[in-house]
Amino acid sequence: MIKKIRKAVFPVAGLGTRFLPATKAIPKEMLTIVDRPVVQHVVDEARAAGIEHFVFVTGRNKGVIEDHFDIAYELDDTLAKRGKTKELEALKHDLPAAGTASFTRQQAPLGLGHAVWCARDIVGDEPFALLLPDMLHHGGKGCLAEMIAAYEEHGGNHIAVAPVPDDQTHQYGIVGVADARAKVSQIHSMVEKPPKGTAPSNLHITGRYILQPTIFDLLARQEKGAGGEIQLTDSMIALSRQEKFFAVRFDGDIYDTGSKIGFLAANIAYALERGDLGPQLRGEIERLLER
Ligand code: G1P
Repeated sequence: MIKKIRKAVFPVAGLGTRFLPATKAIPKEMLTIVDRPVVQHVVDEARAAGIEHFVFVTGRNKGVIEDHFDIAYELDDTLAKRGKTKELEALKHDLPAAGTASFTRQQAPLGLGHAVWCARDIVGDEPFALLLPDMLHHGGKGCLAEMIAAYEEHGGNHIAVAPVPDDQTHQYGIVGVADARAKVSQIHSMVEKPPKGTAPSNLHITGRYILQPTIFDLLARQEKGAGGEIQLTDSMIALSRQEKFFAVRFDGDIYDTGSKIGFLAANIAYALERGDLGPQLRGEIERLLER
């Protein structure tokens, strides 16, 4: 029987060194794409896919992420008194229902595999979604919704993939698939950050996963991989010897907001689409480019 995907894990413990000094006191996940924090965009994607419980793996100095997903009583009260009904409704809409968000801390920066393992008790014995908040997926009905549709058809484990230029394959997890042009294809090989010229394909792991809970047993071994970190990809390779893994090709736009260029591009792209900002911003950009 195919179990429903109810829970999503968001690893938000990273230090954000690439964005210093902005991230000295503010978690990188709280930097804004237009007027929503990066992490809110990713939670929006999970909600749109029908996720019911949100599991955040946080770390020291990440407390404001928890505050962001809680009620802000004084703010709500002030907005109500000032008749700002629209703003109040928008805040209420974004708030996860009571009891549907969990927070646990990754106590040491030991790698993505370790961060995911920290969610094992909260996830329990059921398949779950994993979304890396740095990577924004934009377009279609949403990346995770597309993956859940593929999961409901095929079961097993799923990884979102998209092509990258050959000179960038060493920066990502790369998968080899049976049919690179198919929307959903079985994965036959995976490698984390392959040295230049050795990648099995140009399909990179984009940061969206559906995983069976057996992954936790493999992560529990805590074996170190690329960069001396406990890598999720290594445990997925081990799991793929026992269970099926599918690649779901995402054809929308992907922004790596952990890089400055990706962050800036996402801000421009998301703002250009907004009726209240797009036309004016377009004018501003044209003016700047004419200089
Ligand atoms: C992680 C994963 C990698 C994936 C990438 C997507 O790497 O280990 O497989 O391609 O996220 O952003 P990181 O970016 O944490 O180095």
